[in-house]
Amino acid sequence: MSLITPSLITLGIESSCDETGIALYQMGRGLLAHALYTQVAMHNEYGGVVPELASRDHVRRVIPLIRQVIRKADVSLAQINAIAYTQGPGLGGALLVGASVANALAYALDIPTIGIHHLEGHLLSPLLSDPAPEFPFVALLVSGGHTQLMRVDGVGQYTLLGETLDDAAGEAFDKSAKLLGLSYPGGPLLAKLAASGRPGVYKLPRPMQHSGDLDFSFSGLKTAVLTLVKQNSNDNQKISDEQTRADIACAVQEAIVDVLAHKAHAALEQTGLNQLVVAGGVGANQLLRSRLTEGVSKRGGKVFYPDLEFCTDNGAMIAFAGALRLAQQQGKKDYHFNVKPRWNLAEIVY
Ligand code: KG4
Ligand code: ZN
Repeated sequence: MSLITPSLITLGIESSCDETGIALYQMGRGLLAHALYTQVAMHNEYGGVVPELASRDHVRRVIPLIRQVIRKADVSLAQINAIAYTQGPGLGGALLVGASVANALAYALDIPTIGIHHLEGHLLSPLLSDPAPEFPFVALLVSGGHTQLMRVDGVGQYTLLGETLDDAAGEAFDKSAKLLGLSYPGGPLLAKLAASGRPGVYKLPRPMQHSGDLDFSFSGLKTAVLTLVKQNSNDNQKISDEQTRADIACAVQEAIVDVLAHKAHAALEQTGLNQLVVAGGVGANQLLRSRLTEGVSKRGGKVFYPDLEFCTDNGAMIAFAGALRLAQQQGKKDYHFNVKPRWNLAEIVY
């Protein structure tokens, strides 16, 4: 017997890292409402995410945010047909908050739940925008924890083309930003600083750009940035000249974007596809966007981005991926759950 009706309303809960994201998605109508609470300010003073603080804050935020979204969408709890939550990968304690709230609430409402892979949420998030890409497409997933190129042939049909061997692109942005004295998360701040930098003043390595495969490596870049920062620092280990900081930020952004764009083009070449989808927090980077759009349209292809608010972590992508999965009858009403802090996308078994 089907657990699902065609106009089902799915509640989505994202709590894998430092953002609590809640959304309601209805098949046939789209996103009804969504809300996000970011813990960035709380983690800022520690220079990175403190897992225990993250879990505790999710506990504080998740129920009020669910109430807020239900009010905004003008639906009652009884109208919700299913609950999707991020099952992994991410911080164990943080994931447990979303998973336990999802399963407890679903048990009380007698509706199915489904655990979603966080990266599948990112991968499918461009389908929330208009115009949306059509399957098959190449996806460039660039977040704080992941850098992957995937071939996507349909919901659940993902082939890994290449990935980072060490740091993720977002991590490369964040670590370089930290070396430049910027706060966490440094990606957007580094991009802002780079805007007043002069391209070409400093030249940083493009690791693995010409490796002939679709893999990435960013740890060498971090070491090169460290050397550059040291060379330009005063006795207090700080770069006092603002223009120099901006020039270095510009060089970092150029190097990361160059490698990502080069490999994304190579992936299109290799697969013979002409649609590229960019997902994950680094997809908010304007230089990356313009570089990819320009290059891909030159070869007659098209690039799709999620709306900016859905590039970084959010509940909408989890509600949406959940709705698609539930439409394939993959929800369960047994309320046994576990979380998967480490979870390879290729291992998705529903
Ligand atoms: O997808 P996301 O929100 O969280 C993860 O699942 O990791 O990605 C966060 C990452 C951070 O490393 C952040 O610095 C980076 O995305 N990021 C950016 C920009 N906006 C966010 N990096 C470069 N330029 C941006 N504009
Ligand atoms: Zn993410």
